[in-house]
Amino acid sequence: MSKILLVVGARPNFMKMAPLYFAMSQAEGIEPAIVHTGQHYDYAMSQAFFEDLELPEPHHYLEVGSGTHAEQTGKVMIEFEKVLGADEPDLVVVFGDVNSTVACSLTAKKLHVPVAHVEAGLRSFDETMPEEINRRVTDAISDLLFTPSTDGDENLRQEGANHTRVRCVGNIMIDSVVTILSRISAAQEEETLRQLDLPPRDYALVTLHRPSNVDAKDSLNAILRYLNTLAERIVVVFPMHPRTRKNLARFGIDTAFNKGFRIIEPVRYREFITLQKNSRFVLTDSGGIQEETTYLRLPCLTLRPNTERPITVTQGTNELVDMTNVAEKSDQILSGNWKEGAVPPLWDGRTAGRIVEAIEEFAGAGHLQ
Ligand code: UD1
Repeated sequence: MSKILLVVGARPNFMKMAPLYFAMSQAEGIEPAIVHTGQHYDYAMSQAFFEDLELPEPHHYLEVGSGTHAEQTGKVMIEFEKVLGADEPDLVVVFGDVNSTVACSLTAKKLHVPVAHVEAGLRSFDETMPEEINRRVTDAISDLLFTPSTDGDENLRQEGANHTRVRCVGNIMIDSVVTILSRISAAQEEETLRQLDLPPRDYALVTLHRPSNVDAKDSLNAILRYLNTLAERIVVVFPMHPRTRKNLARFGIDTAFNKGFRIIEPVRYREFITLQKNSRFVLTDSGGIQEETTYLRLPCLTLRPNTERPITVTQGTNELVDMTNVAEKSDQILSGNWKEGAVPPLWDGRTAGRIVEAIEEFAGAGHLQ
């Protein structure tokens, strides 16, 4: 029996882990266990996702909470080392690019426990993003590298990764989108929109939390002023990340907004997928939402100078924008003039099964010793 620890810490990890947990639970000879570092700890940022994804309680909860990057990374390492000592797993699986991802892969490798990275190979080539450092370090030390698209394989090849350890398996987040969509009825969709008083397909959905957008008063203020103007033309709904909300208060930004501009609390997973599916377009700085909108074939504007997910631009419905062209691009979408996009290969809801098969194969080839 192989004991495999699946590590999650922050909101975007949960929907990547869930399909793999269920696929491993059904596989013969694999015993998966969930480790939650507690990087995200609010009910709305964490437990609500476990509920919607029908996950069990984490087997280990490390309660690290927030802090500076060093504090958060350090605390995760100290606590995760104790779990590794007690559980003696055969493999640790980490997801995405958050601080918990790099902290747990480092800790495991130093104790000679093999590491698999799901969502390997993504690069923004922007080292001012903490996530880019997390991606590069995690990929450099992981034993198995599971990429969502072939551009990831190419990035890893350029960095000299051992190609026998790289496998393009597709996008695991889409597995969760497919599952949750099958569980949301038309009546439930209507109810979510009714509760938030949103006209179907006639509102813009906004999420922003990147330090580059929200950690300086001027940029956050400029973005909010723009959204307030946009709200004169179309309802704007903004489920606000705790980081953004804290900064709004800290900077003392005027929040007397137009009636059409609705700032709400972060919403749970099933509500967020419903909100995306029924929106006219999405404005975001998230990584995962660029992918979800590409899968849903919904126009997406990403307020960032770069993306680690270029396939969402070259094949999907996404475009990068800045404050000089966001109004023009929004107008273009509102006038019905936007690319249709295509869903990239292997974004088909079956990635978790491919990962399980690959792990069994790698283990058979002796790559996990
Ligand atoms: C983290 C990830 C980012 C991911 C994002 C999604 C890193 C470096 N960043 O950014 O890649 O896209 O999650 O949400 O790992 N907070 C709460 N309640 C919570 C969680 C956070 O109040 O449940 C507060 C923290 O106290 C902190 C701020 O939000 O002040 C930021 O949290 P943190 O985990 O440091 O990074 P995120 O901005 O959420």
